Formats: sequence, structure tokens, C-alpha cells
Amino acid sequence: VTAEKGGFAHFMLKEIHEQPRAYRDTMLGRIDESGRRIILPDLHLTDEKIRSINNVHIVACGTAFHAGLVGGAVIERLVRIPVMCDVASEYRYRSPLITPDTLVIVVSQSGETADTLAALREAQANGAHVLAITNVVGSSIARDADDVISTLAGPEIAVASTKAYTSQLIAFYLFSLYLAQVRGTQSAEEIAHVIAAMHALPEQVESILANVDAIKAYAEHIAKHEDLFFIGRGLDYAVALEGSLKLKEISYIHSEAYAAGELKHGTLALIEEDVPVIALATQESVLEKTVSNIKEVKARGADVMALTHEEHVTDLLKSVDQAFAIPKTLPILTPALSVVPLQLLAYYASLARGNDVDKPRNLAKSVTVE
Ligand code: AGP
Repeated sequence: VTAEKGGFAHFMLKEIHEQPRAYRDTMLGRIDESGRRIILPDLHLTDEKIRSINNVHIVACGTAFHAGLVGGAVIERLVRIPVMCDVASEYRYRSPLITPDTLVIVVSQSGETADTLAALREAQANGAHVLAITNVVGSSIARDADDVISTLAGPEIAVASTKAYTSQLIAFYLFSLYLAQVRGTQSAEEIAHVIAAMHALPEQVESILANVDAIKAYAEHIAKHEDLFFIGRGLDYAVALEGSLKLKEISYIHSEAYAAGELKHGTLALIEEDVPVIALATQESVLEKTVSNIKEVKARGADVMALTHEEHVTDLLKSVDQAFAIPKTLPILTPALSVVPLQLLAYYASLARGNDVDKPRNLAKSVTVE
């Protein structure tokens, strides 16, 4: 069994460590040799069809939905098409406004999630082109979709999804750049610049994985708590949602993720002495705003940990109890790095609580029934 886990104590830890390889494999053959263009040779979507898309729906469940939130924000930023993200169990029952010019993207590691499959069928019945981002080649979703971008994460065994999520992010980056290329919404230089930064991601993840002691110690600290909060703005908020879900599902610590600006509309009432707050502060354009939210919780006695870039650590330490730095990349690519310490945090917190890391209570790897 340890051999299956490649010498790691759990599948989850093994899969966290496989991420640099999964990033490389998911990019392989999808970037041309010059490193300046995206090539998606298997795609049926024609350039003409891509130019006619006037809105995008991204539909998924759980962690795949969280990857969709990042993907949606990136498409809006790079391609300037309106994007709507929804969880599949809501989407399928609310008669979504789908037209033949809607591109529907469904995201699923297993390719077998019942609600996501039903959402795909609803979209096709309304004439939309459906693109699936999935990790299992022969799965029901991969078979039924009009187009597939496979993530090449390899089999994911742990119930808590890690490498599938980050590979989904890579797939979204590639596809967003491809749309931008076809629609001409970004210059060739800008596209080459993002691609170059993507090539650096695997090594940057390796550097995070080489220094886990501080995050492990922090996980042992939060393992003693029953409630905690994640806050962030923009893409940091999307990653906060994923960090919170990961922590809940395997450590059983109650946690909630909030868009930092929403705190004062209710949740701030729950902040009292020593409540842990994990603040994601990687997005420069809203950094100052996040810092003022950090000060609000600090003033109520919260115990704040900030996740940021090295250059902001000294400054942030004036307002927080501790800070962890992640390597620097482009703001849109930051989720592919910032989620890694949060995966490790969930892993070590679960371990500290003596839980079954790979098989958390009440959960199945693939939800094939409603
Ligand atoms: C992730 O850690 C969860 N176990 C869960 O949210 C999962 O992402 C969700 O059930 C969707 O699964 P899928 O990607 O196989 O469709």
C-alpha cells in the first residue's frame, strides 16, 4: 500500500506532490514551440464559432466549481465575454438562459458527477456548445460533451481533490488564452508573457513543497479550534472558498470563506478573541482594501494569518500575527500557487486531529447520484 502511495503516508499528500508534474503534463503539446501561442488541436470549436460566443456559463460541483470561479474571472479579464458560474445542482433546475451563442463549460474530475452530467444535457438541449474539462478520458461527461480539454493529472484517489483542481486551473488558463488569441483581445506579446509565467509554475510549486514546516506548525495550531474564517478579494476569494472546503472536508473544522468586503455585513459579529482568520492577500490591485479588512478583524481580537508575496510580508506583519509567502507570479496565475499551502494546511490539520485523511466521513469520491 505504501508503494501505491509512492512512499507518502497518504494518497492526498502524494497527489499534492504530483502537482508540478500534473501542471507540466496538462500544458504539454498545447503551447507551440515558440512559446507564444496556444494550440488546442483536438478542439471542434471553430474560430468562427469562438467569435460568435456572446456569453459563457461555467457549471460544476464542489472543488471543480471553485476552479470554475477562477476560470470565469480569467476569461472575463482576458477575453471580455460575460461569464456566469453556477453549481450544477442549481443550474439544472432553474431554466438557465441558454442560447446557441452560449458556450457552456462543465468541469469535473471524475466526469461522472450526476448533477454536472445533467447540466451538460440541459445545455445541449438548449442548443449550446458544451466544452468539458475533465480528468477521466472515457467518462460519461467526456463522451457526451461536444469538446473536451483533458486535464492530465492522472488518477486521483484521495476524496479531497488537489491535483485535479490545479490541473483544471491550467486548462482554464490555456483555454482563456486560446479564446483571447482567436478573438484578438490580447496582444501576441501579452499572450507570450502569460505563457512564460505559466512555464515557471511547476518549479514554484516545488519550492512551496520543499518548505512545509511552518504551514505544518500552523495546521497543528488551528487543529485545536472548532471555527475559523478565510477572507480574500477577487481571485483570492475564489481560492479562499477552495481552502475552506478542503479544510472542512478532511479536518471537520467548521470554516467559512468570505469576500473580505462582505464581513461588515454580518459575519464580523462572529469575530472574537483568538478566532483564527486566514487572509489571502496576493492580489495587488485590492491589497490595500484587504489590509483594511484584516485590521477590522484584528481589532476584534482575531488571530490572523496572511498568505501573500514575499515583498508584502514585512508590511503585513504590522497588522497580522503571522504571514506565509508564496512565490511571485502574474495575478491571474496566483491561484495555482496560493492554493498549495491551503491544501497542506487541510492535510496537516486532518492529520493532527487523527482523521482518516484520504476517506473523510460521509463523503464519496464521485457523486454519481443526486
Ligand atoms: C473535492 O475535494 C470534493 N471531494 C468534491 O467537492 C468534488 O470536487 C465534487 O464532488 C466534484 O467532483 P467531480 O470533479 O468529480 O465532478
